[in-house]
Amino acid sequence: MKVLGIETSCDDTGVAIYDENHGILSNEIYNQKLIHSQYGGIIPELASREHLSRVIPLVRTVFKKSNIQFNQINAIAYTAGPGMIGPLLIGYNISQALAFSWKIPAIPINHMEAHLLSTMMESNVVQFPFIGLLISGAHTQLINAIKISKYYLLGESVDDAVGEAFDKIAKLLGIDYPGGAGLSEMAKTGNPNRFNFPRPMINSPNLNFSFSGLKTFASNVIRNNDHDPKTLSDIARAFEDAVIDTLSIKCQRALDLSGYTRLVIAGGVSANFTLRKRMTKMMELRGGELFYTKQPKLCTDNGAMIAYTGFIHYKLGIYNKYNVNVRSKWPLTEM
Ligand code: KG4
Ligand code: ZN
Repeated sequence: MKVLGIETSCDDTGVAIYDENHGILSNEIYNQKLIHSQYGGIIPELASREHLSRVIPLVRTVFKKSNIQFNQINAIAYTAGPGMIGPLLIGYNISQALAFSWKIPAIPINHMEAHLLSTMMESNVVQFPFIGLLISGAHTQLINAIKISKYYLLGESVDDAVGEAFDKIAKLLGIDYPGGAGLSEMAKTGNPNRFNFPRPMINSPNLNFSFSGLKTFASNVIRNNDHDPKTLSDIARAFEDAVIDTLSIKCQRALDLSGYTRLVIAGGVSANFTLRKRMTKMMELRGGELFYTKQPKLCTDNGAMIAYTGFIHYKLGIYNKYNVNVRSKWPLTEM
């Protein structure tokens, strides 16, 4: 069984083919960073137009690289939400048109479920139930994952998402958007003891997060200090440490409350090596298991995770149950 996956929820055009027996056959991504960076943020209309001109050429490329024919595909999976409505509609319409002409189903995929399951594409199959920490540019959520398509929300950010906070502080440190990975690189040589940043909401009993206070604290420190490379890397280090500690404390609380032993970290920020290292240590100390997607390019938005999730839904026969075309907001709890 083979599934074509199409991701167009934001500013990355991702197309991939997943094969039941051989895994990812090809995975192509077109990044629109250069187009949007001149405006300092993503312009939805420009993103939609770019997706429109990129999807079909990428579809041709993945078939060519996989060395298979159109008629070998069993289903098309596309990102139906959450995301920007214009970009989502491009993926939806192209998927519907291809599915109609190839006489196969088009399967709507929840982008956040795809992130959560992406570790399984690399043969690292996680047993349910588990705690999922979803950390991306737009989401910071703790999920109680019961089974495929059955999720409960345990907590989320009441303001900025982690990735968003990384990107905003990175910008103040002089790093181009999206700056999460660059900030982490800068933090490598930073002194962990020079600045002490707050760990927000760790004393509140719930599982919610807040990063706007930490962001303000970091921007004040940036404003009040010299911008020599050493100081900037010390600040980056203090910021990253504070974020990782906060995430780790809340994950431990979710594990304690649920009694689960498995933790999955997913979404773009899970590409962060320092975070992975600290979470690994934390889970080792607890005697639990940590799962994450090893290849950084499969942590950030990609078509392979959409194809894989489509494959899972197709196999389980649950793809007809969603009465959804596209949804800009589509909580995992409403699947
Ligand atoms: O999942 P994703 O590709 O897109 C969304 O669905 O939002 O996540 C993108 C986010 C960006 O904020 C980016 O800065 C962040 O993931 N990110 C990182 C790293 N790599 C990507 N943040 C921290 N450290 C990284 N290594
Ligand atoms: Zn994403």
